[in-house]
Amino acid sequence: MYRTHTCGELSISNKGENVTLSGWVQRSRDLGGMTFVDLRDRYGITQLVFNMETDAALCLQARKLGREFVIQVSGTVAERSSKNMKLPTGEIEIITESITVLNTSDIPPFTIEDNTDGGDELRMKYRYLDLRRQGVRSNIILRHKMAQEVRRYLDGQGFIEVETPVLIKSTPEGARDFVVPSRLHNGDFYALPQSPQTFKQLLMVAGFDKYFQIVKCFRDEDLRADRQPEFTQIDCEMSFIHQDDILKMFEGLARHLFREIKGLEFEKEFPRMAYEEAMSRYGTDKPDIRFGMSISEITAAVRGKGFPPFDDAEYVGAIAATGCAGYTRKQLDGLTEFVRRPQIGAKGLVWARFEADGTVKSSADKYYGHDELLKVAGLTGAVAGDLILMMAGEREKTLTALGELRLEMGRMLGLRNASVYAPLWVVDFPLLEWDADTGRWYAKHHPFTAPKPEDIQYMETDPGRVHANAYDLVINGTEIGGGSIRIHDRETQSLMFRTLGFTEEEAQKQFGFLLNAFRYGAPPHGGIAFGFDRWTAIMGGSDTIRDFIAFPKNNQARDVMIDTPASIKQEQLDELGIVIRKENK
Ligand code: AMO
Repeated sequence: MYRTHTCGELSISNKGENVTLSGWVQRSRDLGGMTFVDLRDRYGITQLVFNMETDAALCLQARKLGREFVIQVSGTVAERSSKNMKLPTGEIEIITESITVLNTSDIPPFTIEDNTDGGDELRMKYRYLDLRRQGVRSNIILRHKMAQEVRRYLDGQGFIEVETPVLIKSTPEGARDFVVPSRLHNGDFYALPQSPQTFKQLLMVAGFDKYFQIVKCFRDEDLRADRQPEFTQIDCEMSFIHQDDILKMFEGLARHLFREIKGLEFEKEFPRMAYEEAMSRYGTDKPDIRFGMSISEITAAVRGKGFPPFDDAEYVGAIAATGCAGYTRKQLDGLTEFVRRPQIGAKGLVWARFEADGTVKSSADKYYGHDELLKVAGLTGAVAGDLILMMAGEREKTLTALGELRLEMGRMLGLRNASVYAPLWVVDFPLLEWDADTGRWYAKHHPFTAPKPEDIQYMETDPGRVHANAYDLVINGTEIGGGSIRIHDRETQSLMFRTLGFTEEEAQKQFGFLLNAFRYGAPPHGGIAFGFDRWTAIMGGSDTIRDFIAFPKNNQARDVMIDTPASIKQEQLDELGIVIRKENK
């Protein structure tokens, strides 16, 4: 028997018991006649003590234990003289009677501590050591708990977990596909699923009624803190439902997870906000509603006063930063620099201080009188003590930039508290979006999303006017999930493909299987998919999903531990019928 207990479970109630523990040597300390060793496993840390006076040979053996050695010890549980109440096992120690070294260890390349000395790249290369650290391990355990609770809730609601294939044909979700060459069919390729979208719809045609899957998805896109090339979705689909049924069902899932994982209850229904409102008041389709400071349009109020940046602009908007009237010149310059960053791309920022005495002073005082500035203040809802920040330009771009500035102000003012959760449904998305570069319409969500029935009449004449029965769940400014009611008839699906510029043959070639399935009694259906990594990270108070994935890729999409992507043998290339162009190597 390797152990009678784990390293996390002994307490004062075990005093006097004879126990055997196994684990890793976290560290050892020699204090004159005594040696202390911290023994660690998944469950915690237990202090072992060795006394030079009572057993010199054992104490010398303990002194030779290196960091991360795997050992087994037996001894007696004793009460500590100096207790560490921060540790669950901090009231006891083991008076050790024997040690068996089960395995030695090289000196690890970084310390296995909460505040490790290891940089990101090094920790990723030795991820199995990084995973020994308590913080990282607890993230992975949180992920496990989330998965269990997702299954518990959905199973309780009658959902059936079905696996769908990984070697499939390209599904258009907007990103590039990862492809897998076929040996048996040289020149042909599988694609890895960007999501199981078409399969879950086929499961509805098959009559499964309620489907879910916790499933890996693959997208070859530019990476960010909240994006990985392979990530996990909680993918769901239901039949005979309207949008409201889906929102209720999955609001239920969110409530269940917040309750079970965080002990949080939401009294009110999650708010719902139309896409247009999200864009015009928050400059984004994923507003962080933990704080106000929403955007107000001030175009009419500031136009025609001889200030060129505002006179010439399509749109002028503003936010009122709460209590920031006292910002120094340096702080204001900092904000201007922030909006001028290439990622944000604004030309500049005009400010107005709404002083405590009720006067307003602005960087554009030359053009605007006091009453005019007061009018702007009124439009933004600013009160004495606030700082009004104004930007002008093309409507959409300016709104996006104001949205970023709003988030930055929220961050600086400490309003984006990770332990506060503000979920929000964003609804009524446009069905299509115009891409000026390619000169065609794209599906905003994906081509299987149903137009709102009342808007179908504009599909061919004014596609930009068509809204979709599509919805996103946003938590704290992160898009946690998205879905839609689907098209379930051949005619509308063909109309959609036509609008997206597919010829009948192309649509048939790529999606014939789905169009054919729609011939055989497809029920009305719809669904949603949640970013499981993102949701777990948010529950863990972080927006870096990598920390919640056991073996993630780095931001160049590489796994530095197994060193991949990597070249393959010439024989493998030959079998696949692939020739690598020299200049690509
Ligand atoms: P969508 O493309 O919106 O919808 O994806 C659903 C959710 O998956 C998460 N997500 C990601 N997480 C990490 N890394 C990525 N690269 C990544 N890409 C997306 C997001 C997102 O909200 N088939 C549809 C769903 C449906 O219509 O039912 C779909 O995949 O949190």
